Amino acid sequence: MSKNAKTYMCKNCGYKTENWAGKCPNCGEWNSIREFTPEEIEKNRSLKLKDDKLPKIESLDKITGSKKNRFPTTLTEFDRVLGGGIVEGSLILIGGSPGIGKSTLILQVAFLLAIQNKNVLYITGEESLSQVKMRAARLELIHKKVFILSEINYEKIQAIIAEKDFDLVIIDSIQTVKHPQINSSAGSIKQIKEVAASLFRTAKQTNLPIIMIGHITKEGDLAGPKVLEHIVDTVLQMEGDQNYSYRILRGLKNRFGSTNEMGIFTMEKKGLKEVKNPSQIFISERPENACGSTIVPIIDGNRVILIEIQALVTDTAYATPQRLTTGINKKRLSILLAVLEKKLGFNFKVSDVHINITGGLAASEPAIDLGIIFSVISSFSDFPIDSKTAVIGEVGLTGEVRAVNNFEKRVTELKKLGFKNIIVPAGNVKKREFDPEVNIVEIKNLEEALDMYFNY
Ligand SMILES: Nc1ncnc2c1ncn2[C@@H]1O[C@H](COP(=O)(O)OP(=O)(O)OP(=O)(O)O)[C@@H](O)[C@H]1O
Ligand SMILES: [Mg+2]
Repeated sequence: MSKNAKTYMCKNCGYKTENWAGKCPNCGEWNSIREFTPEEIEKNRSLKLKDDKLPKIESLDKITGSKKNRFPTTLTEFDRVLGGGIVEGSLILIGGSPGIGKSTLILQVAFLLAIQNKNVLYITGEESLSQVKMRAARLELIHKKVFILSEINYEKIQAIIAEKDFDLVIIDSIQTVKHPQINSSAGSIKQIKEVAASLFRTAKQTNLPIIMIGHITKEGDLAGPKVLEHIVDTVLQMEGDQNYSYRILRGLKNRFGSTNEMGIFTMEKKGLKEVKNPSQIFISERPENACGSTIVPIIDGNRVILIEIQALVTDTAYATPQRLTTGINKKRLSILLAVLEKKLGFNFKVSDVHINITGGLAASEPAIDLGIIFSVISSFSDFPIDSKTAVIGEVGLTGEVRAVNNFEKRVTELKKLGFKNIIVPAGNVKKREFDPEVNIVEIKNLEEALDMYFNY
């Protein structure tokens, strides 16, 4: 601020600005902004403190607190991640890498609310009105109750939100919005923080839910300061691989629901389509009787998803054999290969070992260890793993097969999908009961696994 700059302040809410305005962009009061000297501002502050009564302290059992209303969008996978729908007065941040489908998702949400007779304001700072219209036309999501505003000036956005009565406001994206009072470029940490904090106040004061779209950085974090995630009520992240049509929406933070939920969609010509029964979509293209492929159930959020772990073991042409992985940690593979060499006498010193989880998925839980080992041995020994067999288990450094969490859940899902043999850690089976549907094979260590399955 220059030395001679005038300071205007709203006498109603104390909002400070360099420019006079007829209406306070913060509290919406008319004719409340006037020029103040720095002394007056200080005096006003101390007077206010003296005048105001001390805040009231309430006993927890006396607080009645109204229950927040939640409205479903009817896009079930989206509602599931939010904990059942959009909560009134909540500030939601949706992050995701460029082109993943954030604008598509949010336009679908806007349309689904519009057909429920709700007024949705979609503020675009990234695309022109005609671009948004083109997308809406392509996706057949045109509705008169979806209002589009192309604006990046935060004060103007604030004024419009305060003036009109919307049921949901969407800002695409937070990185494009610029608060004219803040002297830094749009997308800077200062801008994002201030705009988000102000939107948060608006959401709480007016009970209006606001969804902000946010970019993610190269490292995969939500762009902007970490504090942005602290300011908002809910953080959702859209994930997926551009080469595949799957899109996963994950709850990273939720003040109104569990963060264990995830929603799965496929990106199709007409937009994002919900996947209602996701456990088997990632294994649907598994070849029959191919060597080096194992099915493993993983836990993602509250759901079980079956993944296919593929291994390819070939003679190496390099002085140092290659270890290449997609979807699993390379170090984990090296450790498991070392265990196979030390405990079972395998020799991979002249072999390249490649591991891939199909469908562009990634898994980091230890319960996939035994599946990786099965795929490696299957490829190494040209011994296919039966298509109705699945494998569960963590492998320790002494070659022991260790119990995993959520065991029952994994087995139940495998049974539901018709698996007939499940190789499991003995530590997970409390008591042996005959099950006519499935053959549960308990193993304590890798030697037993090899002996029982590969007839080594
Ligand atoms: N004409 C088209 N036909 C089919 N699919 C399209 C078409 N145009 C875009 N798409 C799909 O939509 C995706 C882009 O979606 P969207 O614009 O919603 O992403 P975004 O996450 O908002 O991207 P950005 O970060 O650039 O804002 C593309 O990656 C593509 O899969
Ligand atoms: Mg977009």
